[in-house]
Amino acid sequence: MSSYHSRISPSEAEAIWTCAAQHGFLNPDSRSLIVHDLNRLKARIQILQTAFPANTLHAIAIKANPLVEVLKFCVQNGSGLEAASIEEVHLALAADCHPQRIVFDSPAKTLDEIRFCLEKGIHLNVNGFSELQRIADMYDDDVHRSNVGIRINPEISAGAIGQTSVGSIGSKFGVSINQQRSQIIDAFGQFEWFNGLHVHVGSQGVTLDQLCTALQQIEGLRQEIVAKTNRNISFVDIGGGLPAIYDSNASPPSPEEYADRIKAEHPDLVRHSQLITEFGRCVHAGCGVAFSKIEYVKQNSSDRVEATIHLGADFLLRPVYRSTEWKHEFLLLDAKGKLKTPNQSKTTLNGPLCFGGDVIARDIQIGAPEPDDWLVIRDCGAYTTSMWSRHCNRGIPGVAGLIDGQMQWLRQQETPEDLVRYWSNNHNG
Ligand code: LLP
Repeated sequence: MSSYHSRISPSEAEAIWTCAAQHGFLNPDSRSLIVHDLNRLKARIQILQTAFPANTLHAIAIKANPLVEVLKFCVQNGSGLEAASIEEVHLALAADCHPQRIVFDSPAKTLDEIRFCLEKGIHLNVNGFSELQRIADMYDDDVHRSNVGIRINPEISAGAIGQTSVGSIGSKFGVSINQQRSQIIDAFGQFEWFNGLHVHVGSQGVTLDQLCTALQQIEGLRQEIVAKTNRNISFVDIGGGLPAIYDSNASPPSPEEYADRIKAEHPDLVRHSQLITEFGRCVHAGCGVAFSKIEYVKQNSSDRVEATIHLGADFLLRPVYRSTEWKHEFLLLDAKGKLKTPNQSKTTLNGPLCFGGDVIARDIQIGAPEPDDWLVIRDCGAYTTSMWSRHCNRGIPGVAGLIDGQMQWLRQQETPEDLVRYWSNNHNG
């Protein structure tokens, strides 16, 4: 069994809390802290590198965790970066990612953004033919080195989570593999620099079979392009979407299983085209753990304990607004960082924001909470800090990185002054 999805265990969470408390990352006045386990991140990148063909570019999705120090660490450990916006392209450059290892996927690229990326040699995936034409109008073969791919909608069945399922009929992304097939093939006959196919079908809620079915569609198209245009497709970008574990009972596919299927099912593809991956969630989610102090405990009825904590919908946007689809697991530490044993008592975790729905879990068994205990939120290294909501204007918690038992700040806690600056006219000043 692959070690890829190994999670931060309860005893590791205890040890991380103790390390944070001993070295001043948590103190009696702290409200919350996020810790990213960089050793685990490194091990995951290494597993990806070993599982997939050696020349694969693993462009980790910046949107999952955009902390520049985390991006730098990914780059130093051999990965590229996938950018969903021009701002993320700049984050990738700030992380010292080589431009040809940056994959820019925004569906709304402006002329200026395209020009900037062409000048740098950044890889571009277009979302449609008008964007391809914009690039064609600007591309100078003597000067530009960017590779350009096109996002294909493989039109497979939808994943289990509607809002992050993007590879079936009606998706806003890409060109239709069925309706626009001949137009796609013709375009590949026209431009030398147009040399990649891109597919991404969803984030979480997608099965290994769905990921493989999508790739089968893309491979069929690739072979047809090669046969009809007599040219090679240099890159096949398989996107992200490999699920992360949020639930002890889940057993998502490992990257090894995914890569083995690709190699076994499509030897020709792997021989002739370089693969690109854009994993985000399955790389980062399990590397992150958050601690929130239990600020208050109240009991409005005999069977209902409510704990007020410092992380709510601002941190766990999807779990609060779409609680049937997105869930985390929780642990409880006492004020000295010792794990409490779950008992019959049921706790509801109220976030700190000003609306009734700001509840991150209801009636869970984590042990009886007391003020100054610490709640541990597991598997929150992806799409949490990066989707931080300003609602109620609480500052983003400090994020620390843990490597070889040493902790360091990756981003300091935002202060009230930071927030005043953020909302001011002169916020750049
Ligand atoms: N590539 C593209 C083009 C994407 O749109 C995404 C995610 C990824 C790669 C990375 O997918 P991953 O491996 O992380 O599943 N919590 C967010 C998730 C949105 C993800 C969208 N795209 C949300 O709920 O909106």
